Amino acid sequence: MDKTAVISQMRQLIQILAKHNHAYYVMDQPNIADSEYDQLFHQLKALEEQYPDLVQADTPTLRVGGKALSKFESITHTVPMLSLGNVFNQDELFAFARRIEERLPNQAIQYDVELKFDGLAISLWYENGVLVRGVTRGDGETGEVITHNVKTIRNLPKVLSSANAEIPHLLEVRGEVLMPKAGFEKLNAENEAKGEKTFANPRNAAAGSLRQLDPNIAASRPLAFYAYGIAQCEPHHGLTRMSESLEWLSQFGFAIGEQHFVCNNIQEVQEKYDQINQLRASLSVEIDGMVIKVDSLKQQQQLGFLSREPRWATAYKFPAVAALTTIENIDWQVGRTGTLTPVARLNPVAVGGVTVSNVTLHNIGEIHRLDVRIGDTVSVYRSGDVIPKVEKVWLEFRPDNLVEVTLPESCPVCASPVVMPEGEALARCSGGLYCAAQRIEAIRHFVSRKAMDIEGLGDRWVESLLHLDLLKDVADIYHLHEHREKLLSIEKMGEKSVQNLFDAIENSKKTTLAAFIYALGIRGVGENTSRMLAQTFQTFEALRQADVEALKKTPDVGDITAEWIADFFQAPHNLEVIDRLLAAGIHWDAPIAPTRQPLNGESWVITGTLSQMGREQATQMLQALGARVSGSISSKTKCLVAGEKAGSKLEKAEKAGVQVMSEAEFLVFMAEHGQTVAAS
Ligand code: IVH
Repeated sequence: MDKTAVISQMRQLIQILAKHNHAYYVMDQPNIADSEYDQLFHQLKALEEQYPDLVQADTPTLRVGGKALSKFESITHTVPMLSLGNVFNQDELFAFARRIEERLPNQAIQYDVELKFDGLAISLWYENGVLVRGVTRGDGETGEVITHNVKTIRNLPKVLSSANAEIPHLLEVRGEVLMPKAGFEKLNAENEAKGEKTFANPRNAAAGSLRQLDPNIAASRPLAFYAYGIAQCEPHHGLTRMSESLEWLSQFGFAIGEQHFVCNNIQEVQEKYDQINQLRASLSVEIDGMVIKVDSLKQQQQLGFLSREPRWATAYKFPAVAALTTIENIDWQVGRTGTLTPVARLNPVAVGGVTVSNVTLHNIGEIHRLDVRIGDTVSVYRSGDVIPKVEKVWLEFRPDNLVEVTLPESCPVCASPVVMPEGEALARCSGGLYCAAQRIEAIRHFVSRKAMDIEGLGDRWVESLLHLDLLKDVADIYHLHEHREKLLSIEKMGEKSVQNLFDAIENSKKTTLAAFIYALGIRGVGENTSRMLAQTFQTFEALRQADVEALKKTPDVGDITAEWIADFFQAPHNLEVIDRLLAAGIHWDAPIAPTRQPLNGESWVITGTLSQMGREQATQMLQALGARVSGSISSKTKCLVAGEKAGSKLEKAEKAGVQVMSEAEFLVFMAEHGQTVAAS
């Protein structure tokens, strides 16, 4: 392709992606499936990889793949980021208006009424229309530079364009970063399914995402930016009203609140406040009140500031909604990855118009922190329509006989032992292979390509088979042939697809020890660790019998993983399933005893730029001698090969007293072991 054609294709893709982003984040009306979006995105990325010198400044792909920072840089705000005063009721609101009227006698005053976003304030700098910097509010005077994360926010224009207005040389926009409710719920559901940490509310999730040094984390989170003000504009925009400046910002592609109003007097402001308080739950983003601003920019200037707050604006907060009730019971729910989550069953209570009867207590640590017990009186709190939580236990109402809550010893679903290694926050059921709550995940993992590789046993089959009660655990897969008739009765499953499935299952019986270990889905045991375990223990029997100490000696197995493995093989139900799997005929060739490999079991790390060979080649040479090449320095690292411009890893290795080799030393060492650099 010639250059112009590449650029025009890139521009086209950027435009389409920007349009979909706008529909998704600003209008909240996605008009394309996520998978289609991903396809277009990857198409653009592939083009950019092929033609790196043609990458366009406003490409959305720059949102991902950036380098992690080692620390945040601080910067002083040219225009300080001040805070707002608060009012909490109509009297206080009217008093706010009276103070303004006294300072501006005989002037008509209009108010701009906006949503008060519950996120994090940031400042964005655009030079000649290009986003050059994003900074947190910090203490209002000095903030942290988070450009790398801000650039990953999908609904935020990286380059300004407008059909009508001229692009200012300098524009500093103020606004709020937040996580829309739908994205927040999806993120938490995904994290829950993966057994990862969930966030208490969208604000924490947004804050946690912006505070990351690695921009890939922010890029993977559904963040959005809403603009609410202009701190600087050169040349001056010539606008005279706050409400106009919001519209002016929105024509450059900034999202502004889905509702904002201009009111002619303070009574009208109160009406709008009541109205929004009513429909707060139906908004796509979390708000904690309204912001009331004098609409005329000239009047704003006349009013000025009192200490750190503008006289021309105030936050009108919504009342926090809380109610008292009692805890009837605490159940432990088992998630798809085996995590146990305590859920308090409440005496149903109305909190801000919604009846709440269950509330999550997150984990045993939270139970201890609150010291909550069955029978306690608690206040339940809801901010917006987000997940209610127990705010406080009223000890003065506690009857004498209440007992402390402890972690159950066995899983409420399958009765396997519950385990929680030291240093972990979440307890888990150890019956991963057997537990009905974990069944779907266990089956999906078991049949996946790198595990038993049963092609064709996809989600649709699995659902039907679960429905027919033919898959209680993974061992049942190898008994499906006993139910040929039942399988044929499934809609759209003909003779041929049933036979294909049986063939795939039969073929999967011949596997490798490493793939079988991986297929068991033991927590912390990925592909690499499975390979290490197979190499170290040689037979399944030896692995099954290994104690924590023996497991810890395996390269790649840390203290916690060693405990997970031992717990897994101690859960009697897991052993039953394993016996049935082996009895069904799963087998593998005995691993070939490793030839004498001088670096067997050693962990090596490569860093910096090598001049005589690529990293890949150095890795292969090390692996040929039996070493494992890891990405980071740990106490198990045997040696670091440091090329040119080696950075933090070299420092870390030196601090930890790990042996370091230069590239030249490495080449000599390799030559001594019969490894030479192949000509490229
Ligand atoms: S205007 C001089 N407008 O509320 C301060 N702030 O309590 C001008 N906030 O840190 C702020 N939504 O992060 C303004 N529509 C809105 C807002 C808003 C949320 C936050 C802002 C600020 C805090 C002040």
